[in-house]
Amino acid sequence: MEYKTAIGKKFTLIIARGPEEVGARAADIVMELVGKGRPGVLCFPTGSTPIPLYRRLAGLYRKGLVSFRNCKAFTLDEYRGLPSSNKNSFRFYMERHLFSKTDFPPRAIHSFNGMAEDIEMECRKYEEAINKAGGISLLFLGIGANGHIAYNEPGSNQCSRTRMVVLSQETRRAIQKNFPGKYPPQYAFTLGIATILSAKTIVLMATGRDKARAIFRALKGKPTSDVPASFLQSFKGRLIVILDRDASSMLNVDLNRCQTISRK
Ligand code: GLP
Repeated sequence: MEYKTAIGKKFTLIIARGPEEVGARAADIVMELVGKGRPGVLCFPTGSTPIPLYRRLAGLYRKGLVSFRNCKAFTLDEYRGLPSSNKNSFRFYMERHLFSKTDFPPRAIHSFNGMAEDIEMECRKYEEAINKAGGISLLFLGIGANGHIAYNEPGSNQCSRTRMVVLSQETRRAIQKNFPGKYPPQYAFTLGIATILSAKTIVLMATGRDKARAIFRALKGKPTSDVPASFLQSFKGRLIVILDRDASSMLNVDLNRCQTISRK
């Protein structure tokens, strides 16, 4: 269904019955672009929300229904200070959930080096690699309960590019569970808001009631750096928002008018 944000940006809203179906619909969009071997530059988030998407893509690959052999992949962000071998690093997560289970050519996979000594150079190299790849064709996003996208925390500027950021207390509390007995990372590398908005297609996914307010503020609130996801309202490309019913619960949408998935 076509839907409009607070400032009139049109986007496609898909309401799925639950997290698995959010993943299935997101996978449909990958299939539409990539199929059995078309080129594409994809950018992926971490967190719990995209796991059903990665599971689905791995399954489609196993069945020979999708191939990423001509694709390039970028990860959205990375903790500062964690090597890719650390199981909490985003590179490790992406290997585990998607890259090791599909056929992305290893040389076409880009992620931040969390241990880079020259931070500015690392960020510049990342932007250059995106440009060299021809820009991002399809970028997936989750959303933090405080409205962050990638690691663009509240306060992030709409013009921001790839950089290192300080994680908010709220985010650090949310990730503490992954770092038992330790302090969670304080800093992270992230694609900037302007970098995200330069993609051709953006798919925002959210599941669960604890994301309902962030989704409402992102789509129906005034665009503000207090809610970085609200800058998606000024995105010029194709925006697709895939939610489960809980995450959509504050939007007041008529579920009968949204594309929903039928149970098979
Ligand atoms: C992290 C990531 C984001 C992600 C968010 C939500 O902070 N940097 O890219 O969207 O968490 O995570 P989850 O899907 O686990 O709620």
